[in-house]
Order: sequence, then C-alpha cells, then structure tokens
Amino acid sequence: MLNIEGLGAGYGKMTILHGLSLSLHPRTATVILGPNGVGKTTLCRTVSGLIRATRGRISFEGRDITGASPAARVRAGIVQVPEGRQVFPDLTVRENLRLGAFVHGMPDQDAFDRIYALFPILLQRQSQKAGLLSGGEQQMLALARALMTRPRVLLLDEPSQGLAPMAVELIGHAIKQVAESGVTVLMVEQNLKLAEMVAQRVAIMEHGACTLEGPANEVLSSDAVQNAYLGKKR
Ligand SMILES: Nc1ncnc2c1ncn2[C@@H]1O[C@H](COP(=O)(O)OP(=O)(O)O)[C@@H](O)[C@H]1O
Ligand SMILES: [Mg+2]
Repeated sequence: MLNIEGLGAGYGKMTILHGLSLSLHPRTATVILGPNGVGKTTLCRTVSGLIRATRGRISFEGRDITGASPAARVRAGIVQVPEGRQVFPDLTVRENLRLGAFVHGMPDQDAFDRIYALFPILLQRQSQKAGLLSGGEQQMLALARALMTRPRVLLLDEPSQGLAPMAVELIGHAIKQVAESGVTVLMVEQNLKLAEMVAQRVAIMEHGACTLEGPANEVLSSDAVQNAYLGKKR
C-alpha cells in the first residue's frame, strides 16, 4: 500500500519531519495523533507532494513516488482533504462536488448519486452556497469533494478543527462510512474522541517521527496516550 520510510521535510533550514516511517494497511483507517505544531500538516503536505521531501522515500503500491508531482499523486489515487476545509463558499454544494471530480473530467450523475447516498444532507443542500453550510456540513462537503475523485488513499488533515463536539461526531460517522467502503484512510488529528471513533490503527507523532504504531485499542489505552491526552496518571 502506502509506505513512508525515513521521511524528512521542513521549511528552509528548519527541519520538521525527522525520519518519519509509517506503513498503511490496505482498506484500513490509520490515525496519527499528535499535538498542535508537531508537524501533522507538514506530513500530509509531503505525502500529497505539496512539500518536497528532503530525505527518505514514499512508495505507493511498490512504486517510488517521492518525487512525483501533486497531480500525479492525485491521479494515482492519493487525495488530501486539506486543513480548514477550504470549500468554495460562493459556489453551490453541487458545484463544489463537480470541481472535486476534475481529474476525471465532467462527472456523470452516478458520481453524484454515489456521494448523495453516502451523505443525504448534501443532496438536500445541493443548490445552496457552501458558505451557508454549518462547519460540520462544510467538512462533510470537503470530504465528499475528495471522494468524487474515487481515491484509493484519503489523507485527512485534522477534520475536527474548529468543530463543536456534535459536529465532530457527525464527521466521525462519515469518515467511518468512507473507510468501510474500502478506502484506505490516513487521518492526522489531535482530537482523541475522533481518533477513537475512526481508527483501526493508531500512531503517535512526536519530535517529527511516528512512535508506538499499532492496533487502535492497544495504542489508545497505552500509558503514553492516557497521560498525554487525558492527563491520567496510572
Ligand atoms: N509555511 C511554513 N513556513 C515555516 N514554518 C512553518 C510553515 N508551516 C508550518 N511551519 C512550522 O512547522 C511546524 C509544524 O507545523 P504543522 O505541520 O502545521 O503542525 P501541525 O499540523 O501538527 O499543527 C510548526 O512549528 C510550524 O510553525
Ligand atoms: Mg495542522
């Protein structure tokens, strides 16, 4: 599937990723938990090709894609839902979805129907401007827009950001459905609740690398996670 080995990346002289390694299991949702500023967005952008790796290797289905352009990665099926949603506020829901499908040209009605079956609320709102949706609905639209490309690997950059707890739960269900439909999911988050909802595997990110990768129930109940995220001392 997607393999990240010894990845380095940063901004100018500042290195943020220090030899990060992680392998995604096919058709499995992996969540990387890490605090604000640890480099989660940097990792997403390096995997999607928006930031150049300074060392290490990213391969997808056995093919080295470390130097591939962002567009080539999207065509290969690696698609990112960016931090902060970034829907087009003045376009309707349907127009936003249509733009998501650009890699395949003009989407047919089937493509919309598939998305509307997954997210009925977007069908109800299809003629509304995206800027009028609630935060949770906008995040759902961002997710749906990415799905219009029929991704193999979906990268989700902190989908809980700025959402009320109820909206986080809504998005969690949506992401779960996507994962259950067979898409390999890599989500970076600092929200433990959302991680618990979605993750089959969890990795902890600290000091620019992944530590403690394993089955979600084991990693989430580990002392390291309990202490860092719940302030529990055991
Ligand atoms: N465009 C940039 N230029 C310089 N430094 C940046 C840039 N973007 C992020 N950083 C720095 O890189 C570090 C990691 O940021 P980021 O990947 O956004 O973390 P996270 O998503 O985990 O909050 C932070 O110290 C941040 O200030
Ligand atoms: Mg971030």
